[in-house]
Amino acid sequence: MITVYADLESLSRAAAALVVTQANLAVAARGRFSLALAGGNTPRRTYELLAQAPFLDQAPWDRMHVFWGDERCVPLDDPRSNARMAREAWLDQAPIPQNQVHPLNCAPAPAAAARQYEARLREFFAGQPPRLDLVLLGLGNDGHTASLFPATPVLEEKRGWVAEVYLAEPDLPRVTLTAPLINQAAVVAFLVAGRSKAGVLREVRHGPRDPRRLPAQLIQPQNGDLLWLADREAAGLAPPEVP
Ligand code: 6PG
Repeated sequence: MITVYADLESLSRAAAALVVTQANLAVAARGRFSLALAGGNTPRRTYELLAQAPFLDQAPWDRMHVFWGDERCVPLDDPRSNARMAREAWLDQAPIPQNQVHPLNCAPAPAAAARQYEARLREFFAGQPPRLDLVLLGLGNDGHTASLFPATPVLEEKRGWVAEVYLAEPDLPRVTLTAPLINQAAVVAFLVAGRSKAGVLREVRHGPRDPRRLPAQLIQPQNGDLLWLADREAAGLAPPEVP
């Protein structure tokens, strides 16, 4: 399902409201809420809103467990770090116990980091199916999502939950949740904004299936909801008229 918002601000408000709603539902049903965060720039405003009223007061944040969908292998305080962005925009101000925030730390080496993160997730799910309550994702201009990049071996992964990814350009290893793990989530929500995404958004949703070229097409929750939150520009619509 796609919902189109006038601009990034209203998209971000809807995304923040989605996080709050899913948190309340999950905590009521299971006593905890697990969320995987998207990196990139689009979700920054959503995270900032979650750190403010009214959202800040609307969910049981002490029951929340935060994971990351992917991470660039840079130090956790590097400006390119997805963990740093989410901390600065939201998590440093949020009443979430620190031991429930699980940044993806690449420090040992990407392959070891992937193994460690998978072990952490296995511990969290304790033998139950790895059903994250909500996964937020972005969409790259080349059709990637999380760090599932076109023509990379991780796209063939069928069993593993977390994997390392090497990209030549930019020369930066990454670690990512795999499509099989993401597809077990209860809700997966893509946040897509800006004119530059219009072509790829249309292709991912309506073009021929070609996940080696458009990895976001791999995201098809098996027993969950797939939501697309787009602004008018990304949806290929004219910007709203200013009265
Ligand atoms: C990352 C990502 C990546 C991102 C898209 C969209 O670490 O780069 O998680 O998948 O979500 O590239 O990024 P923007 O929101 O900046 O366009």
